[in-house]
Amino acid sequence: MKKRKNCIIYGGGGFIGSHICEELLNEGYEVTVFDKLYFDKRNISAFRNRVKVIEGDFYNEKDIKKSLKGQDVVFHLVSSTLPANSNLNPAYDIETNLIATIKMLDRCRDYKVSKVIFISSGGTVYGIPEKIPTPETFCGKPICSYGIVKKTIENYLFMYNRLYELDYNVFRLANPYGERQNPFVAQGVIPVFLMKLLKKETINIWGDGSITRDYIYIKDAVDCLLKSLKISSKEKLFNLGSGRGYSLNEILEIMKKVTGLKPKVKYQHGRDVDVPVNILNSNLAKKTFNWKPKTEIEKGIYKTFFYLKENYSG
Ligand SMILES: NC(=O)c1ccc[n+]([C@@H]2O[C@H](COP(=O)([O-])OP(=O)(O)OC[C@H]3O[C@@H](n4cnc5c(N)ncnc54)[C@H](O)[C@@H]3O)[C@@H](O)[C@H]2O)c1
Repeated sequence: MKKRKNCIIYGGGGFIGSHICEELLNEGYEVTVFDKLYFDKRNISAFRNRVKVIEGDFYNEKDIKKSLKGQDVVFHLVSSTLPANSNLNPAYDIETNLIATIKMLDRCRDYKVSKVIFISSGGTVYGIPEKIPTPETFCGKPICSYGIVKKTIENYLFMYNRLYELDYNVFRLANPYGERQNPFVAQGVIPVFLMKLLKKETINIWGDGSITRDYIYIKDAVDCLLKSLKISSKEKLFNLGSGRGYSLNEILEIMKKVTGLKPKVKYQHGRDVDVPVNILNSNLAKKTFNWKPKTEIEKGIYKTFFYLKENYSG
């Protein structure tokens, strides 16, 4: 009988990690969730008894070494920074995210891990894109440390593959949204706005609402990540988005329609860290993995709203 593949998800208790975990379990993989000490188990509660859980620190070499033994596939989803706060202390960003990742890759070599999947950022690695939708070949210059570090990790993955044959895929994710995304963190406009709507609070928008992003429903993104486990492609790096852009004002209009609630909105000065438009060309992922996003934004927003209502109101 063929052995079931062991997958470890660093940051598996978070928004994206918990969806990857759920889908891996559905497909019959053995899954280990690695997350912080005493991390909130709510995201994995529905399948907690079917996964191994390790509480540790991604920045602790011993924790990484112990957790990697016997793993075939690594999903790397830990980040100590967000795009908006990464410029406050770039040295910290490098020390935590870059250095710790390289140390983890060294242990992957020791333990002969067969594949590393790294979630990069389609919203920041291109800087201010000159081509919309932006293809992977566009060589942009990130305007935040978060994007620089993500791009540098991508380069190290390329190098480790070339030197040590460590297989990998990088997914430059657009703006994922959906159930279990934290509505109180400054990453994820959709749950943040929906939560404000639910609580009848004012929605603050940086700029005039014209900032345009490519939103992808989380289950569509995860579908592509899992397909990549079954295909060893020559291409390693992929954009992962819907290919369609919506301005913040358009998102608000959709929310009004879907929820029947009327938002209170306050427009503020724009932020330096926000590029005006970001839409990804994901044709390479579509072709390589025979994949396409299926969820219309109205439906995805409705599901997110329903989840927030169920879990946060009352
Ligand atoms: N959410 C987005 O919009 C988005 C877009 C593009 C890329 N990404 C990337 O995807 C990854 C996951 O994002 P997410 O939205 O799921 O974030 P999240 O905050 O929901 O999940 C991250 C998880 O990592 C855990 N973690 C953080 N530091 C840790 C440490 N030192 N040791 C162990 N665990 C630790 C957290 O407890 C959390 O459960 C990140 O690398 C992020 O940069 C996210």
